[in-house]
Amino acid sequence: MTRQSLVAANWKMYGTWTGVNNILATIKQGLAQNAGGEVAIFPPFVYLAKVARLLHGTKITSGAQDICSVTGEGAHTGEVSGVMLRDVGCRYVIVGHSERRTLYGETDTMVARKFFAAQEAGLVPILCVGEQLDERESEQTEAVIARQLDVILEHPGGVASLAKAVIAYEPVWAIGTGKTATPAQAQAVHAFIRGKIAAHDQPIAEKIRILYGGSVKSTNAADLFAMPDIDGGLIGGASLDAPQFLEICRAAR
Ligand code: 13P
Repeated sequence: MTRQSLVAANWKMYGTWTGVNNILATIKQGLAQNAGGEVAIFPPFVYLAKVARLLHGTKITSGAQDICSVTGEGAHTGEVSGVMLRDVGCRYVIVGHSERRTLYGETDTMVARKFFAAQEAGLVPILCVGEQLDERESEQTEAVIARQLDVILEHPGGVASLAKAVIAYEPVWAIGTGKTATPAQAQAVHAFIRGKIAAHDQPIAEKIRILYGGSVKSTNAADLFAMPDIDGGLIGGASLDAPQFLEICRAAR
């Protein structure tokens, strides 16, 4: 089965008002003739509404880098709900990014709660999974990924929920380090993820898009995206460089 590719720009905590305008103008122009692959932009929270407005009328979608709150509206100073993200035009939300897991102590259980809260709000969650370097070196990669997936798969209705979700495999040792997983290394983990889902539900496993993230550049994107189980990328640093990001988008088509 053919899956539509998705290239997602995770801008992390970078950018300014002016920068957002400049990058988006270049990306919009570069993708004006875009046929096929989907492209989504994930700016910091404060720029979400502006980005959605600037993307209105294009095929480019947008999303948030996290769903802060797993509850509905209420007296939660400083939090942001899924309904609010939807309200300002988000289609997607990233959950369980390794920076949230390692820097902000998000556990697998918290990530699962965010995943389901996102779906309840009408957002499509992009669930990030990935191993640390020492876990890879001690051959625990599959065990770690399995644990990160099981919190979703073992939840009531969990497998069915994957029909409306995206997974991103981001080996932690490859994020922002310039060290990319080789296409073969990434493919092996993507195949493992798809196989694990297939053990529960074959059609959902065939349909779900699994993105690779971790030092994707214009120079390595085509080789990664050529792998049969890699359906696009979650791009950090290179997504802040509009011409390079456009080349990555082209490589995914
Ligand atoms: P880099 O592309 O900068 O390695 O970041 C990857 C990432 O964390 C995307 O979510």
